[in-house]
Amino acid sequence: MKLKVLIILVLVIAALAVGIVFSNTTDAVFFDSVPWVTIAAAGLGFVLGIARALLKGKEKISYGEVNRHGTGSFLEHWGTALGIFALLASAILLGFLFFPSIMKNLDTTAFPLNIHFIGVVIALFGGFFFVGDYIATRKFDRLLPNIPDIFGGLLGKYFLRRKWSSEDKYLSSQKVAFLGFALFGGVLLISGAVKVAAHIRPINADYWAFFTVLHDLFSLLFIFLLIVHVLLVLGLREWPALASWITGKVTEERAEEDYPVWHKELKTGKRRGYKLLGYKEGSEVEE
Ligand code: HEM
Ligand code: HEM
Repeated sequence: MKLKVLIILVLVIAALAVGIVFSNTTDAVFFDSVPWVTIAAAGLGFVLGIARALLKGKEKISYGEVNRHGTGSFLEHWGTALGIFALLASAILLGFLFFPSIMKNLDTTAFPLNIHFIGVVIALFGGFFFVGDYIATRKFDRLLPNIPDIFGGLLGKYFLRRKWSSEDKYLSSQKVAFLGFALFGGVLLISGAVKVAAHIRPINADYWAFFTVLHDLFSLLFIFLLIVHVLLVLGLREWPALASWITGKVTEERAEEDYPVWHKELKTGKRRGYKLLGYKEGSEVEE
């Protein structure tokens, strides 16, 4: 796992680095010259994500360790995150709301605009790889929170210090964060798509202004959520979860203690009978 993770990391960072160098050495604005690459990246990611879901192995406990993340999960989380970091950095250079633009004229704006484009391409590839995998795996409740997750697993556990013993593979608080990322990311995607469309053909100025305000407001919300996400990981000292992104594993002891519902599922091969989406009681368990 470690070597495969390293290869993926080098490839994604290399794609970003090539993009940055290319952005700096061309007069072209990528949103104008090759807008179709954004759609191609999303489509390719989606198809590969479905293939991953069909090919991936089963989660299992062996020699006191549990397989938690495959290389594909690493690409989904960290590939998308790297693209988003490029989006955020370029967003701040471009300027929005109370972030002043540090770009003085059109010439100097082309560079951050092109970095935004590279960020869109990488984030869409990683994000849609995740979406394809997630849909084809059909284990929606793994990451989507339900009402008890919100009241018991987030508000009760952290704010009222109540005991919460229904943690699944992902903590209830992580599921709520996932919902936030999905909603905010979805609005950024739709408003961003309208702004990409404006580079292909002229659109109504009022629409453009509306989607720009939406894009900017949700950029801010997204930044806020990301800061909370990172602070929670650091504050709750989730070092084993952080390390598992690289090693792919957690100890069985840790799985039993922190993720009891998931551990039980791995032991019995049976999934808790969620009525909502995806699962049938006793269905086979795959990663
Ligand atoms: C974390 C995600 C994102 C953040 C924080 C973000 C932020 C921003 C900001 C601050 C700007 C400059 C101000 C403005 O014109 O509104 C901008 C411009 C833009 N963004 Fe995003 N964005 C994100 C994702 C996306 C996505 C996914 C797309 C495409 C689907 C996209 C497409 C664009 C386009 C086309 C522009 C306009 C460039 C121009 O013509 O001026 N963005 N974005
Ligand atoms: C834009 C950037 C990021 C996004 C959108 C994001 C999103 C998510 C989401 C949705 C999850 C739930 C599980 C999953 O979907 O794979 C998650 C888990 C996690 N994230 Fe992030 N994340 C980002 C950056 C970071 C950073 C910078 C850190 C480092 C502190 C981090 C550390 C973690 C950890 C430790 C987990 C839990 C893994 C586990 O339980 O095994 N994330 N993240």
